[in-house]
Formats: sequence, structure tokens, C-alpha cells
Amino acid sequence: MTEELQRLEAEALAAIRDASAANALEQVRVRYLGRKEGRLSAILRGLGRMAPEERPKAGAEANRIKAALARALDERAASLAETANPGSAAEPDLSLPPRRRWQGSVHPVSRAIADVWAIFRSLGFTRVRGPEAETEWYNFVALNTPLDHPAADEQDTLYLAPGLLLRSHTSPVQIRTLERHPPPVRIVAPGMVYRRDTYDATHTPAFAQIEGLVVDEGVTFVDFKATLAEFARRFWGPDTQVRFRPSFFPFTEPSAEVDVKRVVVREDGSREETGWIEVMGAGMVDPAVLENVGCDPERYTGWAFGMGPARVAMLRHGIRDIRLFFENDMRFLRQFA
Ligand code: DAH
Repeated sequence: MTEELQRLEAEALAAIRDASAANALEQVRVRYLGRKEGRLSAILRGLGRMAPEERPKAGAEANRIKAALARALDERAASLAETANPGSAAEPDLSLPPRRRWQGSVHPVSRAIADVWAIFRSLGFTRVRGPEAETEWYNFVALNTPLDHPAADEQDTLYLAPGLLLRSHTSPVQIRTLERHPPPVRIVAPGMVYRRDTYDATHTPAFAQIEGLVVDEGVTFVDFKATLAEFARRFWGPDTQVRFRPSFFPFTEPSAEVDVKRVVVREDGSREETGWIEVMGAGMVDPAVLENVGCDPERYTGWAFGMGPARVAMLRHGIRDIRLFFENDMRFLRQFA
């Protein structure tokens, strides 16, 4: 009897070792330990019919084997689960809905550009583009910025050849547009710009800008403020406040820096005001700029702005380091799906 039991043990252990999946292992368990048809269970049930002197020894041996098989089954189950689903010893739950595959998403800066554009489009603006390689005329001189201005310095601007550079802002698109289209003009021009900046948490040598320009008869500072306030409320929410701070740009007079103050609504419904955050430079188009493109400044007036969509996206999502937009770390980008 003991011999028969030991043969059964060896056979069962081999079957456990050979089981290559959870269901095969379950079949092995049923074959040997199943309450009705299990071979070991049958032997245990038959102990009562055995000669009384043999019974204790066979009984003890059968119980030892039962425990050994149960342990071997558990260990094998854990190792199969680990292979099938590394990191978890448990079997996968087949009733769970499948995980959605991530199929990519729009980059947060592209999303900001698209959203800004959608608002201006609804206000009657057209979207235009300009070249990234520009001449000094379009990037500086026509914009009323003399070449001895610090911005034109090689320290700040990336030159490709004498007189030819990577545009340091999208403002040259103002000139290219007005040259080809007489007013009325209402455009936004998103695109990349380049500067000799050190790559750090708030600067990158290449970044996106969105230029805006309106030129027509009778355009006033009031149009300018009202349009930007409307934009800000649509983009950041109806309780957004807008502030115009006096500033200086060679191509606008007067010039302003535009700050917004937002109301952030928390998940628990509580509301909190942010501080004032600068979102763009802007102003009334300088008459000298209009003259440079052959527009009569006595007849036409206009306003313009230059906005940083990366900054806008940082504000929107509470991102503190601009470099995250360039590093293509999937763990970062996946959040914007
Ligand atoms: N071009 C400016 C810059 O890059 C931003 C700017 C300021 C654009 C005022 C404008 C403007 O159109 O009116 O810093």
C-alpha cells in the first residue's frame, strides 16, 4: 500500500510540474485530490476497509502526500501566474473589461494653439503662416526695430547668414500679411520662433508663438481691450479678469503687457483666485510700421499681440517646467489623452 501511495505521489508531482497553464493544473488537482474522483481521495476513503494493523501507517502516509500535493499545487499556481502576469502572483481576472490601448494624443502646446485659434476664428479672424527663416527687414527693420537694438544682437538671435536669421518672433508675419493684403486685416499666425536662450525650466531656444493682428479704419484701443477680454473669458473661464500693464515694444504705441487672473474651481467645488499671470505682449500698431508696408496711418489703425502657447498650456495644466514639452516622455504626454 505504501508503495502504491508513493508511486501515486511521484506521478502527481510530475503532472503538477508539467502543467503549463492554470486550467491544466486544475485538471491535475481534480485528478488526484478531487473529492469525488480524485485518486488520493479514493484511497483515503478506502482506509476504513483496510486491515486494522495497516490502517494507521497508510493513513498517515496518505495524509502526508495529500499535504505535499496541495503545497506543490499552490506553488505551481503561483509560478504560472507570475509568468502570465509578471509582478502579480494572482491569476488575471478574466472578467475585467479590456484595457484601452493608448493611441496617441494631441500635444498640450498644439492643443493650446488649436483652442486659441478656434476662439479667434469665431471672432472673424483668418489663420496665416510665415517662413521661419527671415530677413532682418521682416524680423526687425520693418517692425520699427533698428538693427542696433539688443534684440537684433547675435547674442539673442540665431543668424543663418549675414542678413538672414531664424525669426525671433512671429511679428514678421504682420509685415508679410499687410504687404499682400490691404486692410481690413484680421489674422492670427501661430508658428515656431527661435532665440539664443539657455535651455532651462522657463526657456527653450525654440518655442511656439501666436501672433494676432487687426488693421482697419476706426480701430481703437477699446476694440483691442474688448476683444482680448472676450478671448480671455472664453479661454480661461467667465470669471477671468484681464489687466493691461503699460510696456514697450518698438512696433506698438502704446504697448501693453496683458495679465490674467483666473478663478480655479477645485474638485470639491471650492474656488480660488490665482495671482496675475502675464500671457502676452500687445499694443496699438505703431504708425511707422503701417508706413513701412504702404498703409496710410492717417486712415488706418490697428492692434496686435504676441502670445506664448507653451506658457498658456503651462498655466492651464499647472506645469512648472517647460522642458517637459520637448522631452517626449510618454508618462507625461499620456496625461493629455
Ligand atoms: N513680438 C513680441 C515678442 O516676441 C511679442 C509681441 C508684443 C507681439 C507686442 C506683438 C505685440 O504683436 O503687439 O516678445
